[in-house]
Amino acid sequence: MFRMQSGSMLSKLLSGNRNSIRTLHKLRTAEESSVTNDISLSDALPFDKIPQPKGLPLIGTILDYTSFRGFDITRVNDLWLKRHHECGDIYKESIGLKYWVFCRTKEDTERLFRLEGRMPFRSDLAVLREVKSMMGYPDTVGNLKGEEWYRLRQPINRILLKKQTVWKYCNQQRQVCEDMVSHMKRRRDENLEIPGYADALQAWAFEMAGIFVFNTKLGLLQETVNEDVATAVEGSSKMMQYIGAGFMGGPWKYFMKLGLKKHLLASKSIMLSIINEQMMSENIKGSLLEEVMSIETFSEAEKESLLMDILLGAVETTASTIAMCLYCLATNSDVQDKLRSEIMALTPEQSSSGRAVDSMSYMNAFFKETHRLYPFIHALPREFEHDIVLSGYRIPAGVTIINTINTTSNMDPEYFENPFKCMPERWIDKSLSKFVTSSGFGVGARACPGRFFAKQEIFLLLIEILSNFKVEYHHEPATSIMRATGCLSREPMFKFVSIRR
Ligand code: HEM
Repeated sequence: MFRMQSGSMLSKLLSGNRNSIRTLHKLRTAEESSVTNDISLSDALPFDKIPQPKGLPLIGTILDYTSFRGFDITRVNDLWLKRHHECGDIYKESIGLKYWVFCRTKEDTERLFRLEGRMPFRSDLAVLREVKSMMGYPDTVGNLKGEEWYRLRQPINRILLKKQTVWKYCNQQRQVCEDMVSHMKRRRDENLEIPGYADALQAWAFEMAGIFVFNTKLGLLQETVNEDVATAVEGSSKMMQYIGAGFMGGPWKYFMKLGLKKHLLASKSIMLSIINEQMMSENIKGSLLEEVMSIETFSEAEKESLLMDILLGAVETTASTIAMCLYCLATNSDVQDKLRSEIMALTPEQSSSGRAVDSMSYMNAFFKETHRLYPFIHALPREFEHDIVLSGYRIPAGVTIINTINTTSNMDPEYFENPFKCMPERWIDKSLSKFVTSSGFGVGARACPGRFFAKQEIFLLLIEILSNFKVEYHHEPATSIMRATGCLSREPMFKFVSIRR
């Protein structure tokens, strides 16, 4: 059974004040009947009528985002939920000299992503640009906007969002998952737990990315690991820690920066030497590396930069998500049993066929449910170059809109029956929930281009783990907190009990 951490404000709001949350929804419904979401710009209520929390002149509510007021960036969604509770489904906030709008309803979410068109603008993340420039690369696709973004994103979509391309790697990736399970068996202690399991998951994710990019194993799950490759993985981890610290601000960002450039350049040089070596080998045929290298509209630096994004950016994301999936399974043994039954019903051919793995219905539903209970991304920020209407209010161009649906509506009883229960069935039986949340991979034209690849990796590892072990968790309850991305608030310390196959 899923439980929130007892001390969190989110937990108090959701358990203690659920009636108030329901009232909030009733108010919203009443309001919607008079101010519909589809009203024209000229009929919309003015921006200054959007409710907002009290702040100080000029600096607004910026102090609420400091540790003096007890703010903790890793639990920023607690503050959003409190604000929604006080101000309603949409509110604005003046933080420093800038206005931000926060929205959370299904209607506003749909409207936001319908209006964003073919070149959406996600708000700039300076820290991403900084990391790229330390590596000597231009800005990344994740940070660009307009035509510049579109030019880079189109070829990426053509390669990464083709299921057939991703499925081709299924068999090789399955072998990496078998290596991972052997590695786990070797590393289990007397309690059947694996100390440093987070590092093992990172090594596995890097190995999976290596298969995808290079068509070859890098050997990170073997007894003796190539030191150079281990340095590259370390570089990836330091990069993500720094990006997380960049979101948080504060002095620790500057400490983390010490030595970072050296690590990033070391990772880059190792990756480039692997790329060069692979370019000479037979492995290149039909590989992602070959496809990227033949994109005519990319400069050499853009090609390298994209390969780095995939290799370094695909590690932490996938490793964090699999830890959340395992936690969800370990704390919901009925769900684990059902998923294992679906896995056991696969024939050996099916368990290494991308198409068959992709169409596992309980697995897909379980994955969505894990994202609902343990959001990977706490909010999706967007900006528009023209005015739009949300919840009946006019939002001027250039205002940052934070869609908080993933973390403030994911437990809403109005949207989800039994919201605290892990119930993958709700995604299969559509009558249980009509509400389609933004998935963990984002929505619209800017949604994650690595999603097919990431899902395949995660499904394959879950197949391998559940075919070999019963997964248990015997520590303090965990929840999803925000670092560079959403991750478990505690060490992923699971007990892996061997089962008979
Ligand atoms: C479980 C693993 C992953 C999760 C949950 C995830 C999630 C996300 C999310 C939420 C976004 C922002 C979407 C939006 O703003 O609407 C994103 C963007 C992105 N992701 Fe992923 N991701 C994962 C793995 C990967 C992998 C494996 C790759 C590469 C192969 C990748 C490459 C990217 C890129 C390049 C962007 C920027 C896209 C753009 O702005 O156009 N991701 N991802």
